[in-house]
Amino acid sequence: MGFLRAALASAMLLATADAALEPIVMKGSKFFTKSGDQFFMKGIAYQQEAGTGPGGASTGNKKYIDPLSDEKICKRDVPILEKLGINTIRTYAIDPEADHKACMKLLDDAGIYVIADLGEPALSINRDDPTWNVDLFNRYKGVIDNLAEYDNVIGFFSGNEVTNNATNTDASAYVKAATRDTKKYIADKMSKGGRWMGVGYAANDDAEIRIHMAQYFNCGDQEEAIDYWGYNIYSWCGKSSFEESGYDVQVKFFSNYSVPVFFAEYGCNTVGGAEGRLWDDTTALYSDKMTGVFSGGIVYMFHQEKNDYGVVKVTGDTATTMKNYDVLQKKLGAVAPSSTKMSAYTPTNSPAACPQVQENWKVSPNTLPPTPDSALCECMFKSLSCAPATSLKEKDFGSIFGYICENDKKACAGIKHDTEAGVYGPYSMCSPKQQLGHVLDAYYNNQNKGSSACDFDGAAAVQSSPKVDSSYVETYMK
Ligand SMILES: *[C@@H]1O[C@H](CO)[C@@H](O)[C@H](O)[C@H]1NC(C)=O
Ligand SMILES: *[C@@H]1O[C@H](CO)[C@@H](O)[C@H](O)[C@H]1NC(C)=O
Repeated sequence: MGFLRAALASAMLLATADAALEPIVMKGSKFFTKSGDQFFMKGIAYQQEAGTGPGGASTGNKKYIDPLSDEKICKRDVPILEKLGINTIRTYAIDPEADHKACMKLLDDAGIYVIADLGEPALSINRDDPTWNVDLFNRYKGVIDNLAEYDNVIGFFSGNEVTNNATNTDASAYVKAATRDTKKYIADKMSKGGRWMGVGYAANDDAEIRIHMAQYFNCGDQEEAIDYWGYNIYSWCGKSSFEESGYDVQVKFFSNYSVPVFFAEYGCNTVGGAEGRLWDDTTALYSDKMTGVFSGGIVYMFHQEKNDYGVVKVTGDTATTMKNYDVLQKKLGAVAPSSTKMSAYTPTNSPAACPQVQENWKVSPNTLPPTPDSALCECMFKSLSCAPATSLKEKDFGSIFGYICENDKKACAGIKHDTEAGVYGPYSMCSPKQQLGHVLDAYYNNQNKGSSACDFDGAAAVQSSPKVDSSYVETYMK
């Protein structure tokens, strides 16, 4: 090959490399490609459970499998995804330190976008003990930084089914705070030349709370609200219909929603397991009855595992498509959603009103938990006159918190977190150890630094040279 031909060939290679997928943008309650064609998500969940497959050995101290860091596996699976006719995968546990270049390129070449959950099983907002803290925010930022360079990333989920019934609605305050902070983080990147990526939430379908949930995450200041609403919905089982599945009710409810809505998971398996699935729900989802309101959906899921929701069985290094893969492929191949051009679309819906505190909703619409700020926490910790002893273990924090917060409520004001009242202490986002330090110190001060007020059987110790930074004000003392 002569020099010119070689140069031309490499220019062509570059051109193909540049012919990447167009970023997705959002306008009103619809998604579009950047050049203005409406985008319907045809997705599938792509996330192997840790310990199940050949890549199933956990790496290092990580207990989850990053689905997009093993080029060999992506080379095997991306053609199967492409042939299925999907245009989006949803991942649930991205490793912010892993290299995703190879897999992201394979996906991009196959016309596939990614929407990624920001948490991972061991580091996500826990419905039973919800918090939004420095560690969580650092992880969320890490995933965003890692994936931001790829144009085929649509965006993220700040939580998945965190509040899942009326007993744990408080957790939603923390997820909304996470949404606010990650959106701000992306906006700051945009002001330095980054592009838009969305932050949404994936909700379960609990009849008692679903309306409050959808309203809460969409209401109020739009810089704090979700960019899109994902619905994990399993109400179409076996032979069913638009009405019998309740899809008609969802379409009606979301018809005045101001941001895009899609199924973040679907594919009921209660009739005949994974292989019994007929995928008539897919046909309905992209039909005229739904496309005016819903932007498509994400099938649950690629891998056939114990829970029996898969379309592909992985054994050793081999991936084999199942019967319901073929059915889904046919149904997806036949859909032709009617669409709108971005230029021809004028959004008219406005954000929902916030739900007020009531029996099934214990979240004040007025205040969100504070933004995690490690500098504030560290500054506070360095200033303590009484701090946890270095030998103290986290499992022993509970009894000290319990004692102080019961006997000196004021000492605990700085870490208070009451979603119903909408009251959050400034240090409620610090680590447990930092929070304990704050409480110990406040108690010690409130006891006029009595010698026995900083001991707790050796769990706490007076600090010889606390460093008080004048820029940091101990608000709780006032
Ligand atoms: C609410 O969800 C939690 C966590 O999944 C579960 O333990 C509890 O039984 C549920 N309560 C009700 C009333 O459904
Ligand atoms: C849509 O309308 C219904 C019924 O009028 C109302 O309950 C709901 O809050 C509205 N949703 C939004 C997003 O405005």
